[in-house]
Amino acid sequence: MIKACIFDLDGVIVDTARYHFIAWKKLAEELGIDFTEKDNERLKGVSRMRSLDILLELGSLELPQQKKEELAQKKNENYRSYILKMTPDEILPGALDFIRELKNNDLLIALGSASKNAMTILDRLELTPWFDAIIDGTKVSAAKPDPEVFLKGAEALKVDPKNCVVFEDAEAGVEAALRGGMKCVGIGSAQTLGKAHLVVEGLNEMNLNKLNQL
Ligand code: BG6
Ligand code: MG
Repeated sequence: MIKACIFDLDGVIVDTARYHFIAWKKLAEELGIDFTEKDNERLKGVSRMRSLDILLELGSLELPQQKKEELAQKKNENYRSYILKMTPDEILPGALDFIRELKNNDLLIALGSASKNAMTILDRLELTPWFDAIIDGTKVSAAKPDPEVFLKGAEALKVDPKNCVVFEDAEAGVEAALRGGMKCVGIGSAQTLGKAHLVVEGLNEMNLNKLNQL
């Protein structure tokens, strides 16, 4: 029986990938690294520092830790200049309707995101009050595919992992949910998210009926 839903943020509730891309692209240009939208796909669901490492690998650049921290901070400041301008119009289709349906049926909801900017984004989207628990990149030490973020979400909600469903757009996130003993709905293509119990294109395809059939 499903008692709680745990949502990833980026790529599930909102499409922040384009802002991440603009900000990483600017940094890449400054470093003389060629960085494409296809490369950006590799950064989905991946932590900020790991994303920088991937970018530097693409340019065959090795830098000392302190320099890397400066660059990650620079990218984040640029990224934040975009997310600070977000509005509730940017909530992905169907997300709010689905959340409303869950709440109307007494299900609990949590956020399980790798992002350290999750609170800013939820506030900009005016979604914060809907969540019973928020676990973001500031509260976890192990990145997905480690299940820590989702297990902490289930714990905060006081729901057994087997009664939780995770919504995820990244392969590492699907794996994290499964490792945590939870059900998982993949948001995106069945080609990359095939291990999930169900794959849909977006939350607009979800409803309580489908949830209860998982
Ligand atoms: C994830 C995104 O949700 O958060 C990644 O999918 C991003 O692309 C990661 O790198 C960390 O985000 P932030 O906001 O802490 O830099
Ligand atoms: Mg995501």
